[in-house]
Amino acid sequence: MQAKTPEQSKTTMTDMVLPSETNPLNNLFGGELLARMDRAASIAARRHSRRIVVTASVNHVAFNRAVPLGSVVTVEAKVSRAFNTSMEIYIDVWMEDRESGARTKANEAIYTFVAVDETGRPVKVPEVTPETKLEKERFDAALRRKQLSLLLAGKIKPDDATELKALFY
Ligand SMILES: CC(C)(COP(=O)(O)OP(=O)(O)OC[C@H]1O[C@@H](n2cnc3c(N)ncnc32)[C@H](O)[C@@H]1OP(=O)(O)O)[C@@H](O)C(=O)NCCC(=O)NCCS
Repeated sequence: MQAKTPEQSKTTMTDMVLPSETNPLNNLFGGELLARMDRAASIAARRHSRRIVVTASVNHVAFNRAVPLGSVVTVEAKVSRAFNTSMEIYIDVWMEDRESGARTKANEAIYTFVAVDETGRPVKVPEVTPETKLEKERFDAALRRKQLSLLLAGKIKPDDATELKALFY
């Protein structure tokens, strides 16, 4: 199975914020952004694995900046690391200034997807070969995040979270 770069799974979705997608402050509703990120991440995971993929976990979401009504929002998702059957997807969310066209980072999130066969059983995926400095940083930290996610989900014991323990000792 040939390794792929994050660029090969890159998925970019651009859309506007409409009135039906806002909260009482006229900013993008968080659940709407989660859905947009889930869709982009799902396509990125599918591009990487060429398999059916399911969301296994939302590992991290930071709603750092409100996204006002009428904004043009770009969600960019890439597979940052693949393990055996699971893939970490890193998502960056950008807002575009109407006049200058300059992009500002609004939010980011990290999702885990699992590739499955037609019966829903996890199947192996290709590895990731990171290229840029940022891709390498995200790749290197991904195992730590996977262990944290599994620990919080009660799927591994603290003793098995070797990468997390290494942070403290
Ligand atoms: C995700 C799913 C396929 C995992 O199945 P499972 O029986 O737990 O399978 P495994 O224990 O073999 O785990 C499969 C992979 O997922 C990873 N995984 C499972 N739960 C995880 C979590 N909470 N965080 C990070 N990774 C997780 C495992 O580490 C494993 O990764 P690896 O093979 O790369 O090492 C299964 O739980 C499922 O189908 N869930 C429903 C998915 C869904 O419907 N999503 C949409 C939500 S509406």
